Amino acid sequence: MSGPRVVLGVSGGIAAYKACELLRRLTESGHDVTVVPTAAALEFVGAPTWAALSGKPVSAEVWDGVHEVPHVRLGQTADLVVVAPATADLLAKAAHGLADDLLTNTLLTARCPVVLAPAMHTEMWEHAATAANVATLRSRGVLVIEPAEGRLTGADTGKGRLPDPEEIFEVARDVLARSGAGGAGRPGVGVHDLAGRQVVVSAGGTREYLDPVRFLGNRSSGRQGYALARAAASRGAEVTLIAANVDLTDPAGVKVVRVGSTAELRDAVLTATASADAVVMAAAPADFRPTEASEVKIKKADDGSAPSITLQQNPDILKEISTHRARPEAVIVGFAAETGDATGSVLDLARAKLARKGCDLLVVNDVSGGAVFGSTDNEAVILGSDGSAVDVPHGTKSALAHLIWDQVVTRLT
Ligand code: CTP
Repeated sequence: MSGPRVVLGVSGGIAAYKACELLRRLTESGHDVTVVPTAAALEFVGAPTWAALSGKPVSAEVWDGVHEVPHVRLGQTADLVVVAPATADLLAKAAHGLADDLLTNTLLTARCPVVLAPAMHTEMWEHAATAANVATLRSRGVLVIEPAEGRLTGADTGKGRLPDPEEIFEVARDVLARSGAGGAGRPGVGVHDLAGRQVVVSAGGTREYLDPVRFLGNRSSGRQGYALARAAASRGAEVTLIAANVDLTDPAGVKVVRVGSTAELRDAVLTATASADAVVMAAAPADFRPTEASEVKIKKADDGSAPSITLQQNPDILKEISTHRARPEAVIVGFAAETGDATGSVLDLARAKLARKGCDLLVVNDVSGGAVFGSTDNEAVILGSDGSAVDVPHGTKSALAHLIWDQVVTRLT
């Protein structure tokens, strides 16, 4: 196999079964994966499963195949080490440099990016010891993905769930791509350039209800916002994603706040922005709302007449957070879907909008052909309030997301 070499560490938590799906995604997309479970992980999922799915022998011990010095070689030759699930015990060992099995030895010898996806009960995650271990690991450039909230083992719910394996896969792929592209090759160098930063991303389209069942909405799928949140998380940021009516899987390590209307979006954005280093308004808020929403379903009239609806303007959130800045040093990014008209080209209109909104960057999509909405690709120009213009050729929403964060990082530092 010639794909990137990934060590998939699995420690002993019930979420170990989800790592089978992560392993499948990695191998099916051409990665050369060696699974290194801990002894406790093998209590949950046996070595034959890992061996069958990876196509390689599997061991938790440093005493197997000693002539190949696996406890040193695996880490040295890996392009990425990802541990999912990472238990509180594994985090503690990694933070303190303990090395009593093959996985912890591998973590000590790895010079590639390391991604840890913790999963444990909320009490363990919130314990001061775990918090300190996570802080230590992050300070060394390890990407520790925030656990998701939701149902835990047993009947309880809370923070501590392993994020969706598909989303951990996206983080792994992203980190690999960036470490290769940046030539960093060492954790913490270039790859996680948003570490320690708080960012807010809004996504999706708001809905303004006319009655309990009907609403005014728009076609925004939320994909670009989700790509931005995913990209920021894999670059180490603490991400709040404010999602308006989006039907997509939560990105790994991202706090998702769900909203419905523009008023709810505004409240959530204002709250999250108070401490943010960067805000990206990728959502499409409804510009108008009915002056009055009916509490009961509006009935059809027998005479065939239609009700008239009076609309009023919603607040412009991007303009508000740009002109009344909670933190003057924060970088604020807006989006503009433009079509040229008689008064100017797409770029002329976009420059005027950038000035009108007062943000630092404006990502401009030319939507003359009706493209972009719901698609997985995008192309854009990123305009800066300093007069800069970066052309982004046709590509994935993830690629555009990273170019936007590149521009943000330049302005943050
Ligand atoms: N936006 C916002 N609040 C609104 C409407 C839009 O924050 N009520 C943000 C979007 O999230 C996006 C940018 O503003 O970042 C896009 O604005 P757009 O809707 O294209 O522009 P309009 O506000 O309609 O522009 P105009 O001032 O030309 O009407």
